[in-house]
Amino acid sequence: MGEDIKGILLAGGRGTRLHPLTSIVSKQLQPIYNKPMVYYSLTTMILAGVRQILLITTPEDVPHFKKLLGDGHRWGLEIEYATQDQPRGIAEALVIGADFLGDSGALLMLGDNFIYGRLDFLRQGIAANAPRGATIFAYQVSNPSAYGVVEFDRDFNVLSLEEKPASPRSPWAVPGLYVYGAGVATKAATLKPSARGELEITDLNRLYLNEGTLSARPMGRGIAWLDTGTPENLLNASSFVHAIETRQGLIVGSPEEAAFRMGFLSLEALRALIDDMPDTFYKQSLVRSLRDQA
Ligand code: G1P
Repeated sequence: MGEDIKGILLAGGRGTRLHPLTSIVSKQLQPIYNKPMVYYSLTTMILAGVRQILLITTPEDVPHFKKLLGDGHRWGLEIEYATQDQPRGIAEALVIGADFLGDSGALLMLGDNFIYGRLDFLRQGIAANAPRGATIFAYQVSNPSAYGVVEFDRDFNVLSLEEKPASPRSPWAVPGLYVYGAGVATKAATLKPSARGELEITDLNRLYLNEGTLSARPMGRGIAWLDTGTPENLLNASSFVHAIETRQGLIVGSPEEAAFRMGFLSLEALRALIDDMPDTFYKQSLVRSLRDQA
């Protein structure tokens, strides 16, 4: 299935927990250290091998994202835009993306999720996903009640899946990164809004669980999955990126570098992009990674 997968990047919501930062600029455009937040999730999607991406955001924020990312052409991507005018849930993104997806499978990622580390778990999750099944990932956290929580047996068969349970049955949170086979939009369209008025992604995944087509994969301790929804989390994510970038001199979350590594962008095209950049760490670290390539 790996070949035929399109990406949906959800960058909606009001970002209330980041007020007043978000009164003008969307959450997913806020800085994580030296880049807009959406760069990190976009980079993750590129490194997963996804080239066609639908970015869903609020009507007011579309122009900002377009200014930042354009049609993706300069990075060898095809980025399209759609809007979610009210925060009606993560699963609604798949309904909005129905035409875009057509008969393809989907990698759905939330634009406020930050993932750092080797992405083998993701590539394997995509490759092993059943044709009409779903794959979610699991990450051990100290505060599972803040997330979707998955419980599994020793063979990683899913036993239960709950959204923000008061008494979590496991420490395994479900990150905002989901793999679906063809037909997911039709399934998502059957969901009913939850008590908070949203089409819940956990309800969608529970449909797959009930059909016996849901797989869950632990991401492993080598991965950093960080939350970026509150000012403190934003600061922590910024410090994390700063620490890694300063230590290695390498960049974290560069769509240019990711596209180049995935073969979406030629060496010449990358060189031309770099030549046009102001002289910041961003440019210097891209130059360094090019040099390593030579
Ligand atoms: C959403 C999902 C939740 C998931 C989380 C990941 O929660 O509903 O299952 O664990 O994203 O970031 P939210 O924080 O958007 O309410």
